[in-house]
Amino acid sequence: MGFNFSYPSIIFSYLLIFSSSPSLFSYATDTLTPDQSISGEQTLKSAGDIFELGFFSPGNSKYRYVGIWYQSVSPRSVVWVGNREAPLKNSSGNFTIGSDGNLLVLDGGGSIIWSSNSSAASNNSTAQLLDSGNLVLQLGHGTVLWESFNHPTDTFLPGMKLSLDTKTGERQIFTSWKSPDDPSAGNYSLSLDPLGSAQVFMWEGTVPRWRSGQWNGQVFTGTTMRFLYIYGFKFVNDLNQGIMYFTFTQFNSSLLRFVLQWDGVENSTILVGETQEWETVWAEPTNECEIYGKCGIYGVCNNGDTPICSCLKGFEPRSSEEWSKGNWSGGCVRRTLLDCQLNRSGDGFFRVAGVKVPDRSQWASTVLTEAACEAACLNNCSCKAYSFVSGIGCMIWAHDLIDIYQYPEGDNDLYVKLPGSELGTDSKRWKIIVTVSTLGGFFLITCIFLGWKYNKRIKDWLKMGRKKHDLLHNMLSKREARPDFSGPSEYGEEVQEGKGAELPLHTFECISIATDNFSESNKLGEGGFGHVYKGMLPGGQEIAVKRLSRSSGQGLEEFKNEVILIAKLQHRNLVRLLGYCIQGEEKILIYEYMPNGSLDAFLFRPVKQALLDWITRFKIIEGIARGLLYLHRDSRLRIVHRDLKASNILLDEDMNPKISDFGMARIFGGDQNQANTNRVVGTLGYMSPEYAMEGLFSVKSDVYSFGILVLEIVTGRRNNSFHHTENSQNIVGYAWQLWNEDKAVELIDPSIRSSCSIRQVIRCIHIGLLCVQDRANDRPDIPTIILMMASQAITLPMPKQPTYTFEGSPHESDSMANKYESFSTSDVTITMLHGR
Ligand SMILES: *[C@@H]1O[C@H](CO)[C@@H](O)[C@H](O)[C@H]1NC(C)=O
Ligand SMILES: *[C@@H]1O[C@H](CO)[C@@H](O)[C@H](O)[C@H]1NC(C)=O
Ligand SMILES: *[C@@H]1O[C@H](CO)[C@@H](O)[C@H](O)[C@H]1NC(C)=O
Ligand SMILES: *[C@@H]1O[C@H](CO)[C@@H](O)[C@H](O)[C@H]1NC(C)=O
Ligand SMILES: *[C@@H]1O[C@H](CO)[C@@H](O)[C@H](O)[C@H]1NC(C)=O
Ligand SMILES: *[C@@H]1O[C@H](CO)[C@@H](O)[C@H](O)[C@H]1NC(C)=O
Ligand SMILES: *[C@@H]1O[C@H](CO)[C@@H](O)[C@H](O)[C@H]1NC(C)=O
Ligand SMILES: *[C@@H]1O[C@H](CO)[C@@H](O)[C@H](O)[C@H]1NC(C)=O
Ligand SMILES: *[C@@H]1O[C@H](CO)[C@@H](O)[C@H](O)[C@H]1NC(C)=O
Ligand SMILES: *[C@@H]1O[C@H](CO)[C@@H](O)[C@H](O)[C@H]1NC(C)=O
Ligand SMILES: *[C@@H]1O[C@H](CO)[C@@H](O)[C@H](O)[C@H]1NC(C)=O
Repeated sequence: MGFNFSYPSIIFSYLLIFSSSPSLFSYATDTLTPDQSISGEQTLKSAGDIFELGFFSPGNSKYRYVGIWYQSVSPRSVVWVGNREAPLKNSSGNFTIGSDGNLLVLDGGGSIIWSSNSSAASNNSTAQLLDSGNLVLQLGHGTVLWESFNHPTDTFLPGMKLSLDTKTGERQIFTSWKSPDDPSAGNYSLSLDPLGSAQVFMWEGTVPRWRSGQWNGQVFTGTTMRFLYIYGFKFVNDLNQGIMYFTFTQFNSSLLRFVLQWDGVENSTILVGETQEWETVWAEPTNECEIYGKCGIYGVCNNGDTPICSCLKGFEPRSSEEWSKGNWSGGCVRRTLLDCQLNRSGDGFFRVAGVKVPDRSQWASTVLTEAACEAACLNNCSCKAYSFVSGIGCMIWAHDLIDIYQYPEGDNDLYVKLPGSELGTDSKRWKIIVTVSTLGGFFLITCIFLGWKYNKRIKDWLKMGRKKHDLLHNMLSKREARPDFSGPSEYGEEVQEGKGAELPLHTFECISIATDNFSESNKLGEGGFGHVYKGMLPGGQEIAVKRLSRSSGQGLEEFKNEVILIAKLQHRNLVRLLGYCIQGEEKILIYEYMPNGSLDAFLFRPVKQALLDWITRFKIIEGIARGLLYLHRDSRLRIVHRDLKASNILLDEDMNPKISDFGMARIFGGDQNQANTNRVVGTLGYMSPEYAMEGLFSVKSDVYSFGILVLEIVTGRRNNSFHHTENSQNIVGYAWQLWNEDKAVELIDPSIRSSCSIRQVIRCIHIGLLCVQDRANDRPDIPTIILMMASQAITLPMPKQPTYTFEGSPHESDSMANKYESFSTSDVTITMLHGR
């Protein structure tokens, strides 16, 4: 605390107030000295007039408490209470510094009812109320004796620490009020996990009521909190000091707080400038499933289900009688022993998708890949489940699994160990699916055959079917929920990512005819993976045919499997894969045809550019983000695109964007783990630094490419078209420079400048700059980006200066430049072995 105490000036203002104006209740100061006291309506005010300290009576209470509240917010929002257990019964009483240097609350008779109890206090201390809301008791020379931030009540403010001393087990504990009228300690408290995991726990008495889930470096994995990135949350584990803590910082001056309410809800609110009202940004627990261990051990809670609790596959209720009564506390038990418990092999894993993973995990810090994590769990009979979580790594469970919550925003998958016999029981269902899809396939072939004859009628029929499908699809994507593969869905089996719909395999002849023998005139373009042709199927359906030029490095069977998997990824912002063809060396993918071609053909051509007004461009940005959200989070494959760029965004007849070429890395046998692979697939200028230089890719490398795209869409210029401007090399450097000089408006494509909402465009540029930050961890994730675009109320953090530019300064990427020399500026997709 670099507080400069200036004694004479305070004395002076003190004298001034009391000599000139007895009606003035507040000290015009933030500091209390030993010879001063506060009583009645007098208050201290922090230097920036943000917080105020004084006596108050909460709600309907007549009692008086010393507290700190926001000075200009009404109704009064109290963030700290001193004498919460010992109120003044009437209006007489003082807040002062005692002769031992401690802060005291004295009642009307002068006896001490509350003390800051600092043993180190001296007779020479002063108290200062800071703009952070912290009341600090310190010696003249700045030594802090006591501070209210270390003795919190129910409010977590920016700069406070939620800490745990790992040596002594001492925790910083927040405690709820008893009721809105009574600030004395209520039933609920909040602290870090005393077992030392990076989780926040809420307790009801001594029983856990809620937990946040493990911190993954960016967010708490078990919450629906998507704004954390904006909060600037930070977790520090200081091994030397034996202390770990969470803290958060405040961006700009927006007032933000977390309150552990008297009713046991942790509520985060932000003060919205215009209305001066608190707006809830996040609150938990607000539904039953968020209550710790609602369904007991081995139970899964899902609000979309009735009843909300179910046992994990392979488990059954401990007491089916209690369970049917809705008493889930007994949890579930294993139906069959694990094979390893019987000294034989055969155990496998069952995936529970999109969950808050259970409590009491162990971290296998030396296990670096998902495959190794699975093996580690399989090879140890006491391991009951594992999960490989990005930002954390390999988590394994040796304890009974408790507090599994399946929810739409759930980001992580849990793999539960089951004996082979339990895993096999699905075969009946599979048989049915296979039968149905075989029949479906047969039906389709018949239809196509008939199509030769009844061309027109079939066309209409197909159209109708398509419409119905799209409708369902829109419903699904509107719901924004991840389809749950472990249970029945309200939309039926066949729309679950196209499950059941067999992907047609076409003959080479058929494709050859459809594309007029791959004629030059039918050629739509060429991508990194081969030429693309326009074609027309016998039924009249227009298609885009991608003739893969490279060998896939995979066997035919694997190729086929991957293609079928990719075809199941269906979303209105993804180009749909309709079929494929394998013949000898020929591998062909058949996509739906997009009449308007690719985004780059519009964006970077002066003639067409003007057709894209700002509203359309914004819609395109949003659509791309939604497509990515599906790839990253909602699809069951969790695809990292790795080659997102303007030429890979296609436009349908209504100018809706559709992402193409996703899943190529899979088809070409790439490793989908967020790990270092020896293959770099991407396009210069769109590749994030960590991907281009180290081959590391993750959802955050797609975010980087997305950022470049956003900047291109706003400027209407290709990322590499900036070479010849004097001092900046690429779009990132150029955008940053103008942004920094407060001239971001100049970035906007002149053809939309007059007709767009400047505020919205600037916000998009801001988001774009956040996406292209050097460090992957600094970049927001796609859900956050979508929120940032949707709500203007959210204050965006300041982007950090991007120092990485591909062509960049010589010292920066010398080795890179050499490595990729031959590709330097062209917009080609490169795939190359990475020399390491
Ligand atoms: C306030 O209460 C105290 C005891 O708590 C009592 O001594 C005092 O006289 C009361 N003062 C008034 C003004 O009622
Ligand atoms: C409380 O403060 C008031 C005004 O400063 C003073 O008159 C009174 O004596 C003080 N009471 C105690 C108990 O210190
Ligand atoms: C201060 O210490 C006294 C005596 O040890 C204790 O009764 C009181 O509760 C303490 N007050 C606070 C605020 O901790
Ligand atoms: C403050 O305490 C010091 C030693 O603890 C003592 O020497 C001094 O006289 C005290 N001053 C007052 C004003 O009480
Ligand atoms: C009390 O504080 C003043 C400065 O505020 C300092 O000069 C003085 O030495 C301090 N006295 C003691 C006993 O700490
Ligand atoms: C706190 O616990 C007590 C005793 O269990 C109960 O009577 C009271 O209703 C609880 N208060 C709240 C706010 O839940
Ligand atoms: C804070 O917000 C104000 C108004 O909203 C803005 O003028 C200022 O630039 C912002 N400062 C920072 C650091 O974001
Ligand atoms: C959170 O706090 C705000 C403002 O105090 C309030 O309006 C809102 O209802 C609270 N949310 C919950 C879930 O309690
Ligand atoms: C719920 O079931 C458990 C045993 O599974 C039992 O101990 C408990 O008493 C039951 N609670 C209620 C409210 O019936
Ligand atoms: C499994 O093998 C261990 C030692 O090899 C033995 O102690 C144990 O009894 C065996 N368990 C069963 C169920 O056969
Ligand atoms: C199996 O896992 C448990 C719990 O993590 C651990 O204590 C034990 O040492 C492991 N056993 C082996 C053989 O690795």
